[in-house]
This record gives sequence, C-alpha cells and structure tokens, in this order.
Amino acid sequence: KNIAVVFGGVSSEHEISLISATTVIENLNPEKYQVYLIGITKEGTFLYYTGDVSKIKTGEWEQGPVCECVISPSRQHHGMICFRDGKKEVIRLDCVIPALHGKNGEDGTIQGLFQLAGIPFVGCDTLSSAACMDKQMTHIVLANAGVRMAKWLAVTQHAVPENIVQLVAEKLGYPAYVKPANAGSSYGVSRAKTPEELASALDLAFQYDRKVIIEEQIVGREVECAVLGNEDAEASTAGEIEPANEFYDFESKYVSGDSILHIPARLKPDVLEHLRQTAVKAYHALGCAGLTRVDFFVTEQDEVILNELNTFPGFTGISMYPKLWEHGGVPIPHLLDRLIDCAIA
Ligand code: DAL
Ligand code: MG
Repeated sequence: KNIAVVFGGVSSEHEISLISATTVIENLNPEKYQVYLIGITKEGTFLYYTGDVSKIKTGEWEQGPVCECVISPSRQHHGMICFRDGKKEVIRLDCVIPALHGKNGEDGTIQGLFQLAGIPFVGCDTLSSAACMDKQMTHIVLANAGVRMAKWLAVTQHAVPENIVQLVAEKLGYPAYVKPANAGSSYGVSRAKTPEELASALDLAFQYDRKVIIEEQIVGREVECAVLGNEDAEASTAGEIEPANEFYDFESKYVSGDSILHIPARLKPDVLEHLRQTAVKAYHALGCAGLTRVDFFVTEQDEVILNELNTFPGFTGISMYPKLWEHGGVPIPHLLDRLIDCAIA
C-alpha cells in the first residue's frame, strides 16, 4: 500500500510533529507499505521529500532532496501531484497519516482536504478534529453527554465582559487557568493566581487565539488514556504524569523530559476502569475515529474530570500514547497497522 506521512505544518507544534513523524516512519512495516514523505514548511509549502529520515527531526529535510507537491482535490488523481524538474507526476495514495499537531493539523482543516480528495486518512474527521481542538466546543459537547469537565467561561478578544475579574471570582474562583480556545502543547496557557494576574493571562492567551477559555483550577493527578478504533474503539489503561514543573507545560513535556510516567496510573482499579469508560464515552460523543488521547485530572477524592482530547497525540519516543499501547501489548508497528486499517475500513 502507498502510505504518505505528513509532517511539520503551520503550527506552533511544528517541531514536535517532526519528532512524532520520525517515530511513525521508522515503525511502518516496510514489507507492507511503500512510504511517501510529505513535509509542510512553517510557511505552508507542501514538499515531497525523498531524503534521509534522520534529517526530518533537525529540519534539514527542507534543504532537500525535495520538490513541490500538492494533494490533488480531484478524486481522479486520488493522491498527490509532484512537480519534479518541470514534470508533473501523480502518486496514488491509499492512506495518509497526518502526523501533525495543533493548528492546521489537528483542527480538521487538513482532514477536510483529504476528504475532498477522496484519500483515506488516519484519525478523526473534520468535525471531530475541530470539536476536540476548540475547547469551548469540547465543553459544550461533553456537557451534553454527561462527561464531567472543569467549570469554565469563554471570552472573545473584542468582547471581554467589563466585570470579568468579578465573574471569574464568582463562577470559577482563583487561581483560574486561562487558555487559548484553540492551541496545543500548553502554548499560551497560564494560571491567574489572583484577580490582578487575570489581565496579563488573558493578553498572553489572546496572542494565540481570539477566543479564550477560563477554567477553574482542578487539583489532582494528571492521567491520560489512549483510545484506538472506530465504532469498536477501546481504551488503554490510564497512565499518569508526575510533572517536574508546576504544571505539565511545554518545557516539561518536550524540553527537559524529566517528568515521570507511571503506567498504569497510581489509582484504585475501579477508578482506572471508570477512566477507560469515560474516555470511550467522550470519544464517541465527539465522533472520534482512529485514535485520540483523552486527558483527565483525578482529584484526591477520586473524582474524574476530563481535561482535553488530543486527536493526534504526541508520538515521540517518550510520548504517552504509544507507551500506553506498548504496555497493553501493542507495539508501535502493530499500532500503526491498526490505525491504517481503521482509516481504510
Ligand atoms: N499536543 C501534543 C503533541 C500532545 O498533546 O501530545
Ligand atoms: Mg494537545
């Protein structure tokens, strides 16, 4: 089968995607798949890359060998068109793996392109990707499904209520978390410890999105479940992150790498089971397919509170999603086989 792995992208998580994609490419069974590499630069140019996989992580891939390419929206091509040495070449694709994170990767936009082109792709479709990326939409859908999340407020940049400081105090309390509605990897997220800190927290978040979510602080363990499948989706056991920093921010996620993962999470069996069931319930409520990592907080009283869903979770060597399935007896090459089967089925 012809499989394209897409990496990079116009996203603040461009570099993480390079690492996730490398893990994906290195674990695709060469006896089953002919792998094509499509890199998207930070400026948004699609390039067909035919060089060493080792040069993706470092960004050196952009120096080539590359040629411009496009995903053809025409179903007649059913794949990508490359422009090499002034010649046009059509490559048929059986499936695409968008190993992209955050904006333009996990938000439904590129999924719409593949859908239009009639090319099967790994993971959630346009609507579910967009609903998981937009924290306000996630809140609305999951409240409707009876899945518990933190108390929240949404504000848009040009319509911040004058009494916002008061509103947060009444509805959520301080400290409160301030997050861009659409962003990944904790970019632009901060904690307003006091009413005085709210304005600067909002300013920071508005640098990433014109819509911002303010949430009550939940004190608890950070645990994550990996969900795999379509209608028959199943959840892995939950894993727990013991963060090195104040909260599991960008630095401790990707830079220092000194957070400790506990698999399974250090919780009672009935809480672990409740997490798995809630993860699958949220997955179906949002219409997810293929894969999603569902992130929770578990309080001292063992209350399970869903934090967010990541439709293309980090797939690096230290990432929770592949680690959870490895623990569950599914090594990465088999995991990728199953994801491709889900896309093509
Ligand atoms: N957004 C990053 C890649 C994650 O959630 O793992
Ligand atoms: Mg994320």
